[in-house]
Amino acid sequence: MTFADYQNEIYLNGLHGVVPRLPMTYAELEPPAQAAMPPSVRSYVAGGAGDEHTQRANVTAFEQWGLVPRMLVGARERDLSVDLFGMRLPSPVFMAPVGVIGLCAQDGHGDLATARAAARTGVPMIASTLTVDPMERVAAEFGDTPGFFQLYTPTDRELAESLVHRAEAAGFRGIVVTLDTWITGWRPRDLAVSNFPQLRGHCLANYTSDPVFRSRLAKSPEDDPAAVVMHWATIFGNPLTWDDLPWLRSITDLPLILKGICHPDDARRAADAGVDGIYCSNHGGRQANGGLPALHCLPDVAEAAGDLPVLFDSGVRSGADIVKALALGATAVGIGRPYAYGLALDGTDGIVHVLRSLLAEADLLMAVDGYPTLADLTPDALRRVG
Ligand SMILES: Cc1cc2nc3c(=O)[nH]c(=O)nc-3n(C[C@H](O)[C@H](O)[C@H](O)COP(=O)(O)O)c2cc1C
Repeated sequence: MTFADYQNEIYLNGLHGVVPRLPMTYAELEPPAQAAMPPSVRSYVAGGAGDEHTQRANVTAFEQWGLVPRMLVGARERDLSVDLFGMRLPSPVFMAPVGVIGLCAQDGHGDLATARAAARTGVPMIASTLTVDPMERVAAEFGDTPGFFQLYTPTDRELAESLVHRAEAAGFRGIVVTLDTWITGWRPRDLAVSNFPQLRGHCLANYTSDPVFRSRLAKSPEDDPAAVVMHWATIFGNPLTWDDLPWLRSITDLPLILKGICHPDDARRAADAGVDGIYCSNHGGRQANGGLPALHCLPDVAEAAGDLPVLFDSGVRSGADIVKALALGATAVGIGRPYAYGLALDGTDGIVHVLRSLLAEADLLMAVDGYPTLADLTPDALRRVG
């Protein structure tokens, strides 16, 4: 089976009068998915920092690149598989960590639904620290697909170590430390409705299930939910510095990946400090409205990362976007909002549809334009448009 086969499956189903339940493009997916979410979840998922210029620029940045078609390549067989941290993955695509993904599902267990989609597609999930169900339950749904744990490093180091060690014990295959969210960016949509899900007690299961976190409370989380939120708010955000990196490196032997790296100097310094992967992202423009699309940062970061794998996300909306990010130096490409919207409309099936559509489009683009392997996707394959 190739990723492109999803196309045949859809056309063959059409012969029996069956058409896809979900839209085929992101533009058509977004409105009904947003309408299916409660308003508080909608603003949190859809919104970004400031006037959302950066969020939009992340998407339009892809339009500034075009793939050069090459003919007579005979790209009948494509190989999209990739080696990542010693694992062979069927595709260079993963699901970016989305806190509140739990709330995006109609049944309120979107973390589990996402993990099941990972099992069905072979597309790894990076599970956020902020989940409805504890990480152990999420990991139990991964099947044979490796999963990663994203750490929001709390100020309480013992708690951070406990979270990481639980992730190891649960079978996660890497730790992604997010650096750009120790403080929440200015998000007008959420501010307008005065809503921040975690402050309402949502998505804190990894904390309330943690022995160290529990030991810090006077009463059990079940008996005093307000104290949970109060304590969480005091320990959540940790403005890490380079001096903290040796400690982070020391607490796990799992691959350590730093998320939010957009400057080549930061990539070089992280590589020198012994991390295993660089994750170039501007958090989908949700954190800072500085105006620079993440895609523009990718080539320099990839070059500075040297031999280290480079994960990338922010603004990926199509298979063509995946191909362009790979050509600009990404080793693997993260999907964010598109899978959240697939989930909102149709649970695990919705995510599977979104991921299979993205992969089929990427695969078919590589077929038509004559780039049969990921190694063929270099910056030379792209031209600036306009
Ligand atoms: C609703 C929402 C919640 C997110 N939560 C997290 C999170 O918990 N941890 C994290 O590292 N990134 C988080 N992100 C950022 C994503 O990992 C990713 O960087 C972003 O979605 C990419 O932008 P895009 O969705 O516009 O493509 C979140 C993104 C969204 C949309």
